[in-house]
Amino acid sequence: MSEVYESERYVGEYLLFHYGKAKEILPWEMGPVGALDFPVRTVGYFSEGRVERSLDVGCAVGRSSLELSRESDEVVGVDFSRAFIDAAEEMRGGGQMMCRRLEEASDYSAVEVSRPEGVDGVGVSFEVGDAMNLREDLGSFDRVHAANLLCRLPEPRRFLERLPGLVKRGGELVLATPCTWLEEFTVKENWPQGRTRDWLEQELGGDFALIEAADEPFLIRETARKFQWTVSLVTRWRRV
Ligand SMILES: C[S@@+](CC[C@H](N)C(=O)[O-])C[C@H]1O[C@@H](n2cnc3c(N)ncnc32)[C@H](O)[C@@H]1O
Repeated sequence: MSEVYESERYVGEYLLFHYGKAKEILPWEMGPVGALDFPVRTVGYFSEGRVERSLDVGCAVGRSSLELSRESDEVVGVDFSRAFIDAAEEMRGGGQMMCRRLEEASDYSAVEVSRPEGVDGVGVSFEVGDAMNLREDLGSFDRVHAANLLCRLPEPRRFLERLPGLVKRGGELVLATPCTWLEEFTVKENWPQGRTRDWLEQELGGDFALIEAADEPFLIRETARKFQWTVSLVTRWRRV
């Protein structure tokens, strides 16, 4: 099912989700404006201060990776979708792209999106990779970020098992998940038994200490009049 993220429609939706201005995503004041800027807010969970290396798994079109680069000498963004990684690389290097925004039916408008201010893309690299089988020579990181990825993986435990080797001792992990477990992505045997938060504590507890858990809404514009409003469970962990 990960092929869905290769489509032009998803590239447009995610470019707008990550880089669109508030009015381009949500023209109404009555809308849930607190759900905008999700890829910036999840990165805000890391402790303050500069670090050497950060990893963003399931980075999509790259906004959180670019945000991580404000406080990190090197950032690696990894995603399974070639189309997303190409867009992320174009935003990093070129700094802007035209994004196709679906209005309704077959009617699209064009919106120019830009790299966020104060970020030049230096030190950031993007690559296609599988969270369940990340390359062995990635090394270890001070910060690992994975937003809305877990419940899109066929075997999420394989990713969780790799995390202790990816996060340096004392380093931080921020996981966000809307806990929307669906059979089209993950067979039922691989879903958590019970609540996702309890399952994460069980799976990560030996190697990570849970520092905080919070709820963060996000908004994805599907058409001019239809939006996904979802609340992600964000957890921050320290590698013990
Ligand atoms: C729901 S999106 C979230 C993207 C981004 N982190 C965000 O918060 O906007 C899920 C992302 O995970 C990626 N993905 C799905 N399966 C993956 C896998 N096995 N390895 C790496 N990335 C994967 C998708 O291509 C997509 O970019």
